[in-house]
Amino acid sequence: MCGIVAYIGKQDAYPILIKGLKRLEYRGYDSSGVSVLNGDLQIFKKKGKVKDLVDHVGNHRVKGTVGIGHTRWATHGKPNDINAHPHVSGNKRLSLIHNGIIENYQPLKEALIKLGHTFESDTDTEVLTHLIEEIQTRDDLPIDEAVRIALTKVIGAYAIVVLDKENPDILVAARKASPLVIGIGRDEFFVASDASPIIEHTKKVVYLNDEEIAVVKRDGTLSIKNIDNQIQNPFIEELDLKLDAIEKGDFDSFMLKEIYEQPESILDCMRGRINAEEGWIKVGGVETKMEEFLNAKRIIIAACGTSWIAGLIGEYLFEELARISVEVEYASELRYRNPIIEEGDIVIALSQSGETADTLAALHLAKDKNALLYGIVNVVGSSIARLTDTGSYIHAGPEIGVASTKAFTGQVTLLTMLAIYLGYEKGRIPRPYYAQLLRELENIPSKVKRILEKDDHIKYIASEIKDATNALYLGRGYNFPVALEGALKLKEISYIHAEGYPAAEMKHGPIALIDENMPVVVIATNMSAHDKIVSNIQEVKARKGVVIAIINEGDNVIKEIADYVIEIPATDEPLTPLLSVVPLQLLSYHIAIMRGCNVDQPRNLAKSVTVE
Ligand code: F6R
Repeated sequence: MCGIVAYIGKQDAYPILIKGLKRLEYRGYDSSGVSVLNGDLQIFKKKGKVKDLVDHVGNHRVKGTVGIGHTRWATHGKPNDINAHPHVSGNKRLSLIHNGIIENYQPLKEALIKLGHTFESDTDTEVLTHLIEEIQTRDDLPIDEAVRIALTKVIGAYAIVVLDKENPDILVAARKASPLVIGIGRDEFFVASDASPIIEHTKKVVYLNDEEIAVVKRDGTLSIKNIDNQIQNPFIEELDLKLDAIEKGDFDSFMLKEIYEQPESILDCMRGRINAEEGWIKVGGVETKMEEFLNAKRIIIAACGTSWIAGLIGEYLFEELARISVEVEYASELRYRNPIIEEGDIVIALSQSGETADTLAALHLAKDKNALLYGIVNVVGSSIARLTDTGSYIHAGPEIGVASTKAFTGQVTLLTMLAIYLGYEKGRIPRPYYAQLLRELENIPSKVKRILEKDDHIKYIASEIKDATNALYLGRGYNFPVALEGALKLKEISYIHAEGYPAAEMKHGPIALIDENMPVVVIATNMSAHDKIVSNIQEVKARKGVVIAIINEGDNVIKEIADYVIEIPATDEPLTPLLSVVPLQLLSYHIAIMRGCNVDQPRNLAKSVTVE
């Protein structure tokens, strides 16, 4: 979603802004723009990529040591040059960038029109810019005070940075329900939607809280107030992030890099939490709330997209291993129902970014109903990490590719550890099985590595099916959610329509679609359902479907009947998703590349969905 970057200091702002915008490209966007102050506001905006913006700026010398930049993901108004940010006030004094949605922009706009304001764009952001101008000029207020008062009149979500032509030595930033980080350099400040544009300049950061307004000054001072005008103490943190973690290195895309990072990222997720030799597993965020977890009436998992699918695997794991009843909810649905959530329930939010608006809103609702909130998050310091009562990071490192890969396996690894931990503490897992699961879990990274070695074979299969227009993914038990994830990966990066189904459900509808043009990916690694899935494959073959089967090494039965097989190492059934998803990630990746798609930034998608 929209990305924000801003700079004030002694250096030229423009190159810092452009580099920062490039770092934010992964969030998804359709236009970009910058505004740099040097006596006058120099504003450039362009539909398309940051490269198009740079071409548009061309030979103009954009000088100035304070400026703001933005990548826009359209919400109000279509993607074009006019709707791109920054927006300017009517008196051309203020320039503003915004991530979020001003829900009451329409009545605000009408009131401003009555006061004589005219608008160039269709955006809610321009309305906010004029509102600040109106308050600033009417009451002759300092810019930070005008911003604060304007924000008291706004309903919705925002992260904003405001540049005032008459105040070249300050930037004003504010947030509510959209992330904003301030990087503190030596006599310079950086403001951004996340840490990626900041880390090459400084590791010292302050994460703004909801309804806080920050003023950063060229003299090196930072002050924060809340919307009620009370002074807040900035909490300075040290970023634990390396630059190479957000660069592609030798890989052609972030997505491929992140797929290949999985042996390491799964290991990082387990580090310090499991030791098979000594026979223990523990998950810090749960250890401190063990009583609540052991006595939980119910666990509700709330998430969106791929994280929701990881949650579904969590349901299978918790129910089988820990005998805890689980419901998995789309956060966007949960938040608008009147769900039964009671004290004694635990709500687990799963989120890579920790900023997904619907997941955050579902958590607020659960908090009001006195449930215990537990967050499983990747991005350190994110809103969900800070809102929840307790939680665990998956430690996957930055995930830049829009399609989630290593965050998914990180989430599933954490849920698996949690289910084993709770199951054992509750006396539901016999000691020998417990010891075996721990050993097997520790073997997962090396088994993922072995799957990655099959990449050329997977690429060959991709070349055989790349021209399909539809695809079906089937799985049973733990591999049903994996089928959903395989289908989601394919559609989001290759734009091939794909559906994931429980294999046995095929007969209740999708079987009508099967013909010789329909690739059917069957995930057949769970031995408890082996005979049944063999029958499902026969049913597909009888209708001339093309079967690509993910099987355990040495499964000659399925090898005989499938058109293509990808053999992967066997493991205990609850751990299968951690392996069976990897060939599906590679399959989608290669198909997308062969179809000429941009795998890192698929059309219309955003990495961090900060609006509902
Ligand atoms: C798909 C994908 C999305 C996200 C979803 C939730 O590959 O990445 O479906 O999983 O937008 O995002 P987070 O996990 O950040 O809450």
